[in-house]
Amino acid sequence: MSSTILVTGGAGYIGSHTVLELLNQGDEVIVVDNLHNASETSLNRVKEITGKELTFYQADILDTDAMDKIFSQHKVDSVIHFAGLKAVGESTQIPLTYYHNNVTGTINLCQVMAKHNVKSIVFSSSATVYGDPQALPLVESMPTGIPTNAYGHSKLMIEEILRDLSESDPDWKIVILRYFNPIGAHESGRIGEDPNGIPNNLMPFITQVAVGRRDELSVFGNDYDTHDGTGVRDYIHVVDLAIGHLKALDRIKEDKGVFTYNLGTGTGYSVLDMVKAFEKASGKTINYKLVDRRPGDVAACYADASAAKNELNWQAEFGLERMCEDSWRWQSNNPNGYKG
Ligand code: NAD
Ligand code: UD1
Repeated sequence: MSSTILVTGGAGYIGSHTVLELLNQGDEVIVVDNLHNASETSLNRVKEITGKELTFYQADILDTDAMDKIFSQHKVDSVIHFAGLKAVGESTQIPLTYYHNNVTGTINLCQVMAKHNVKSIVFSSSATVYGDPQALPLVESMPTGIPTNAYGHSKLMIEEILRDLSESDPDWKIVILRYFNPIGAHESGRIGEDPNGIPNNLMPFITQVAVGRRDELSVFGNDYDTHDGTGVRDYIHVVDLAIGHLKALDRIKEDKGVFTYNLGTGTGYSVLDMVKAFEKASGKTINYKLVDRRPGDVAACYADASAAKNELNWQAEFGLERMCEDSWRWQSNNPNGYKG
């Protein structure tokens, strides 16, 4: 049966891929995005690809009146909550802005939801809440760590707020998804990741070197305790991640409470593994230099994704080759992202 899903941050990278999958499965989708870090073009392309319509509101989750109006106009079944600021470096410069947007924004959203008796939410958390891993692979039952920046703190705070909310009112149905490192793009090459300015993350940096927008990649540290000395991460295809959200919604159709899942592949690749895999997929050479470690980075981080497999009936389907091919198709077809 089709549902009505309100997606905050739905014009962004992961949001737009998830909206596409929701439309394909026949759901009604309402997107709320202030376009701080996105363009409406992503949603227009999602409509083109799927041949389906969606409702878009350019609104801020901090704007109580606007949110109240939107919830009054639609009978929303569930919310997928992507809206947030996510630049780690920036979060250390303007922490109050990050806490206000991410934490206050989520509180505001939940208050409006409760007022309209919508008590079902899937939240975008991050593997960053584990801090420096005490053991690998990371399992959801392990204690969370100390995030090294305000962005990470905001994610951990929101997780805790959502748990308190469920304690206070057991009617809430909450799924917390801890993403590992999303990369890749929809196979059409029409939607993808379009960071503002210099990319912080590895894959968009690599694709921008490949397309000639940057001269060379800086590899942050080659003296970690990993197979080649460079940092190891669990890269996951954004379409796999998007489908994880659909499975999370299924999980809370019946069951109340809070459920927390890692969304990763369970396999770690180093920075140099990524460079090699991307070169193979794209036929391009990626110039790189070895530089000092980036403060706040951990040596290795990868998921135990068996809880999502057992309880959500979800597992990542796409391998590294496909992730690199799809990242490259998006970047080579859209060298300047959505700016044309
Ligand atoms: P993104 O920046 O592409 O998407 C976030 C969207 O939220 C943007 O479209 C932005 O315009 C919107 N937004 C921000 N603040 C808003 C507000 N106050 N009101 C309305 N809209 C607002 O980022 P993404 O990579 O798609 O990430 C989605 C979510 O997943 C974020 O919460 C992010 O922290 C989380 N996450 C991302 C990663 C990653 O590597 N991309 C990893 C872990 C967690
Ligand atoms: C980073 C954030 C994390 C956030 C995640 C998704 C930090 C410390 N962590 O995770 O909080 O949830 O992004 O937004 O910023 N690398 C290079 N050169 C580059 C870029 C990255 O060598 O130009 C290396 C990094 O050192 C790391 C790996 O590539 O080993 C992946 O980096 P990145 O894509 O930034 O993700 P994380 O550091 O895992």
